[in-house]
Amino acid sequence: MKIIMLGAPGAGKGTQAKRIAEKYGIPHISTGDIFRANIKGGTELGMKAKAFMDQGQLVPDEITIGMLLDRIHEADCVNGYVLDGFPRTIPQAESLTKALAEMGEAIDYAINVDVPDSAIVSRMGGRRACVNCGATYHVEFNAPKQEGVCDVCGEKLILREDDKPETVQNRLTVYHEQTQPLIDYYQKAGVLAEVDGTQDMDQVFTDIVSVLGA
Ligand code: AP5
Ligand code: MG
Repeated sequence: MKIIMLGAPGAGKGTQAKRIAEKYGIPHISTGDIFRANIKGGTELGMKAKAFMDQGQLVPDEITIGMLLDRIHEADCVNGYVLDGFPRTIPQAESLTKALAEMGEAIDYAINVDVPDSAIVSRMGGRRACVNCGATYHVEFNAPKQEGVCDVCGEKLILREDDKPETVQNRLTVYHEQTQPLIDYYQKAGVLAEVDGTQDMDQVFTDIVSVLGA
């Protein structure tokens, strides 16, 4: 099963993608997590990406598309995957469609997690992330067992550099200009499903499972 998560920054794509990956036994592939791991590792890719990410801008397609296409050709992707944060531009979506078509494949579901901007800004300030394993928490809605420490791997949790309110605003603007048109793109492809992302996390997941099938 090949799934794309669509939605604004902070809509809950990562939260739900992890649950989908676990339930259906497919890898969770987050371009944001790959970039953050590269930044942490001090790689050349990480240094290039950081300059854009800290401003709330998109990393250029030339860097992102090749990286993602390499990833989905790895062995663990034979039974599908859930993409979180890719595609984010029409050229990214077109490259993915083309690469899949060359293998006689296509995306099965594009799930749009719908949350209005007003709810996003308040969510982001409360998010805490683990750069080591990618787990995500929220100080109010999904707190770790011990404050500031990852339940999964025990690393220290951080407030992401790009979760500052002024950067969140930039990310929302970029989302509306460049990523929102993908909703139309996948609607036309006949694979779009909409879920209400303002509900609690368990209810959002229940709605997603009813789209994907148990
Ligand atoms: P990325 O890491 O993908 O960030 P994003 O899209 O901005 O999305 P977030 O990770 O911020 O939000 P999310 O939807 O995953 O929400 P989450 O589940 O964490 O990208 C970062 C940057 O990398 C980009 O800005 C760009 O520069 C670059 N980049 C990445 N991919 C790229 C690409 N393809 N092309 C170019 N550049 C790219 O939830 C948010 C918070 O809310 C959490 O605290 C969570 O606990 C809480 N929460 C979740 N669901 C609920 C709920 N139902 N109720 C209450 N709280 C909830
Ligand atoms: Mg995320």
